[in-house]
Amino acid sequence: MRKTVGLLLVVFLVLHFNHHVVLRSDCFTLDAVPSNEQPYRTAFHFQPPRNWMNDPNGPMYYNGVYHLFYQHNPFGPLFSNQIYWAHSVSHDLINWTPLDLAIAPTEPFDINSCWSGSATILPGNKPVILYTGIDSENRQVQNLAIPKNSSDPYLREWVKYTGNPIINLPEGIKNDDFRDPTTAWLADDGKWRIIVGSQKDKTGIAFLYQSIDFVNWSRYDSPLHQVAGTGIWECPDFFPVWVDSTKGADTSVMNTRVKHVLKVGLWDYSVDYYMIGNYSPAKENYIPQNELTLSTLRYDYGKYYASKSFFDPVKKRRILMAWVNESDSEADDIAKGWSGLHSFPRSLWLDQNQKQLVQWPIEEIEMLHENKVSFQNKKFEGGSLHEVQGITAFQTDVTISFKLTSLEEAEELDQSWSDPQLICSGMDASKKGKLGPFGLLALASNDLSELTAIFFRIFQKEGQYVVLMCSDQSRSSTRIGLDKTTYGAFVDINPQHDEISLRTLIDHSIIESFGGGGKTCITARVYPSLAIEKEARLFAFNNGTESVVISELSAWSVKKARINIEETISCTDH
Ligand code: FRU
Repeated sequence: MRKTVGLLLVVFLVLHFNHHVVLRSDCFTLDAVPSNEQPYRTAFHFQPPRNWMNDPNGPMYYNGVYHLFYQHNPFGPLFSNQIYWAHSVSHDLINWTPLDLAIAPTEPFDINSCWSGSATILPGNKPVILYTGIDSENRQVQNLAIPKNSSDPYLREWVKYTGNPIINLPEGIKNDDFRDPTTAWLADDGKWRIIVGSQKDKTGIAFLYQSIDFVNWSRYDSPLHQVAGTGIWECPDFFPVWVDSTKGADTSVMNTRVKHVLKVGLWDYSVDYYMIGNYSPAKENYIPQNELTLSTLRYDYGKYYASKSFFDPVKKRRILMAWVNESDSEADDIAKGWSGLHSFPRSLWLDQNQKQLVQWPIEEIEMLHENKVSFQNKKFEGGSLHEVQGITAFQTDVTISFKLTSLEEAEELDQSWSDPQLICSGMDASKKGKLGPFGLLALASNDLSELTAIFFRIFQKEGQYVVLMCSDQSRSSTRIGLDKTTYGAFVDINPQHDEISLRTLIDHSIIESFGGGGKTCITARVYPSLAIEKEARLFAFNNGTESVVISELSAWSVKKARINIEETISCTDH
């Protein structure tokens, strides 16, 4: 069945793309080229050579190459009403080569911007892209594009379907409330499904569509899911996760061994929330085991938005990337000549308890590791500060694990403290506790006037232990005018049995932290003025009164990856 559908589809697409619009991507040069010496540019986090970037779009693996597209303003460091799909390729998800712009706002159906979307590899190994166009009437519509030449290993040129838009705004939905089509999945009835994000009267909606040929789409009366009061759902993602394996499942896998994740970005809060649940394509319903509320599961409890995942067939894993925006001002971005990073790619899978996802930096980071320093089993008295020396503290991958010898001293968690972020803001790393705060001081200056503290505190509540994880940016820079919000979340581990681990990736102006083996993730942007480059230092600390044991500390310097390096830009060579 799937093969026949594939064949039909290919014939259909070839016929329909006969009179295609070929995209020309123009070479562009600008005066304000950011120097690689800028202290806040990253070494191993993805960013464009210059200018504005937001969401990752259409990540995929095709014929030996990883493709990453992204929302880009090629003409300046701020968001604009002329957003393009920029395109980079990689063989290892670490080093990225920039290619020409892939999709430009040129046609009536996307003249006012080419917004986010996804790639799907159709049977017969045919990649296609669905993306949102802002049309000449400023309506959001869904469009289709295919590679001009699928034997080009880099898929440099993309052709827009002349019958675009393939999906129009549903009746009753406002012009600017309908966007971000997902990767399609193929159900047993041989029909493709996608969802598109929307809202009506503040109810966030994932509209569900089906198609036999990828060109004609019809909408189901009932959306896949909707939740009142959540505002528009951006960049939805819908994919299966194995209940009994940490490997990834391809997007169309559907059987009793998988549950389905529905992730939505809430624009009103700039947060990616997710649900885990059961999906029945026959009944076309999705029943989440955790309903979406503002205090439910998030991919990341810091700055992390508009994420997108894809199945990597090479290593059989699901990979997640997200946009991590700036915490400085627009004036700063204009001065820097750029804005926006992507998170380091993470693998993600369902936790053994089937109640949440686990995320972990992809193993390819090891290619960049050097100068390992480590020690084991060190008693860490209350009030201790230990400098991690011998690594580049501004480009680091560090893991620290704590063992607690006695938990009796853990403080009571006040019943009224339900919001972990508020607890972290009220109790920064300088506030002594009993079991904690202990953790890391990243990007610390010599005099410790600048530092970002990522740490844990252990509480007890009704006979249970509660692990709180904080990322405190309040002292991250002596500069003013920055967003220094402190982030916090609970980590679902039991310190009676589990060690409390923290892995942190530090890269100039981004700090990504993974608590409890990746159960709780917090990403922050920081802009130190003293703790930059070789002036930055890294410490482990324990500011509780009780001692803890560092069962292991391992840290590496992380070498600079080749990411969108200027010289490799090709403008005309094809
Ligand atoms: C999310 C988002 C998407 C939209 C894109 C525009 O950050 O607002 O909903 O497609 O960015 O760049």
